[in-house]
Amino acid sequence: MSKKRLGVGIIGGGFIGKFHIRSWVSVRDGDINGVFDKSLDAANEAASLIKQLNVGEPKIHNSVAELVADPKIDAVWILAPNFTRLEIMEEIVDAVETGKGELIGVACEKPLGRNVFEAKKMLELAKRAKLLDGYLEDQIFSPTTVRGKELIWTRGANIAGRPYLARAAEEHSGPHMPWFWEGSLQGGGVLNDMMCHSVEVGRHLLTEPGKPRESLTPVKVTAHTECLKWQNPKYANILSKNSNGKVDYINRPAEDYARSIIEYRDEQGEKVIVETTTSWAFVGAGLRLSMEVLGPEYSLAINSLDTDMKIFLSRAISGNEGEDLVEKQNAEGGLMPIVSNEENAYGYDVENRHMVQSFLNGKRPEENFSDGVNVTKLLMTAYMSAEEERTIKFTPDNLDSFIPKVAKGEWNPKLNK
Ligand SMILES: NC(=O)c1ccc[n+]([C@@H]2O[C@H](COP(=O)([O-])OP(=O)(O)OC[C@H]3O[C@@H](n4cnc5c(N)ncnc54)[C@H](O)[C@@H]3O)[C@@H](O)[C@H]2O)c1
Repeated sequence: MSKKRLGVGIIGGGFIGKFHIRSWVSVRDGDINGVFDKSLDAANEAASLIKQLNVGEPKIHNSVAELVADPKIDAVWILAPNFTRLEIMEEIVDAVETGKGELIGVACEKPLGRNVFEAKKMLELAKRAKLLDGYLEDQIFSPTTVRGKELIWTRGANIAGRPYLARAAEEHSGPHMPWFWEGSLQGGGVLNDMMCHSVEVGRHLLTEPGKPRESLTPVKVTAHTECLKWQNPKYANILSKNSNGKVDYINRPAEDYARSIIEYRDEQGEKVIVETTTSWAFVGAGLRLSMEVLGPEYSLAINSLDTDMKIFLSRAISGNEGEDLVEKQNAEGGLMPIVSNEENAYGYDVENRHMVQSFLNGKRPEENFSDGVNVTKLLMTAYMSAEEERTIKFTPDNLDSFIPKVAKGEWNPKLNK
């Protein structure tokens, strides 16, 4: 491949679109040359940010096909909501197959699909159109995770033996847009939305550096889901108001708490465990990511709110609500932790650099749609386990056609128990 720079087009310039754009100041050899968002306001905002940061020459396009047809676009980042994934991917592949445009690759935000059927279809379409595929799981690229994994394996595992337990959690006080709260649009509740990160980062930390994901085989999944906060009428009412009555957590809640235990076997047949917990019911300073690894003579602990900077604002200051201190911020006063470069800390810089370099070199990214399918399989097995209140052997029958009750509007813990 002779290309020296990659022209990137983004589809979806909302919350995460802007995170990706801000990360681009640290991405080498790539420019964001196009934006398509079904909201023109969002497209304009994204384009202004790209110009302000000088990370590309953004043209605003009117459709996916038009974006793909632009000769300044070599790869596309899918950053639109979960329920639009497949439709967008089909349009990309159609534009490539009918010769409207040429692409090297496509990168897609988490989760790859709302269920296994959709995730597998995404992979199948990428293969059919001969596109390199990147699955955007930022947390495995976070500098802390990368350095932590390197140290735990070189200094700990090499001498004392492999780690046997990883714990990963992602918690905040709830998503910013109504569609995330609707099981049918998002694919589920917090389990689908955030456990996708924790399951993958836990698995990644326990995988020996240089070994493929197949070196760990998932054998059993046990999970639990609940709606602990948002089905309470006081809070359900807030969701209803914020969505013009569309989100109805009294009758159609989704889980705001989920935990899972995934049991793997390594190549020697030894058990290793990934334990995850996620919630939209955590009220603290803001987004909290935590990870732990335990091995025979060592351990690792990461907590994104244990920052090296804090600011204190006294009661004499009453500021406007914002997210300028930390993602999913819950307060504007008192002692607040500050993540000084969130794009870097959460992994977007390194993730996007990896995707750009992989595409330029004609290589499949290390984190790709096959990983996205595997994560979705584990999440759907977790839903099965929670619904049936039992441990499920992996891979269960009918996983490919399984849709969680919560995605069908049929889950209501108040009625079912
Ligand atoms: N990696 C992470 O930690 C992380 C964090 C947040 C969101 N996400 C993922 O990113 C995706 C987007 O989330 P978000 O928070 O930016 O949502 P959002 O609602 O803030 O923004 C979505 C944007 O996509 C646009 N859009 C909607 N339908 C579209 C379509 N058919 N074609 C083109 N544009 C369309 C909307 O107008 C909006 O601007 C989701 O899949 C979500 O799961 C990942």
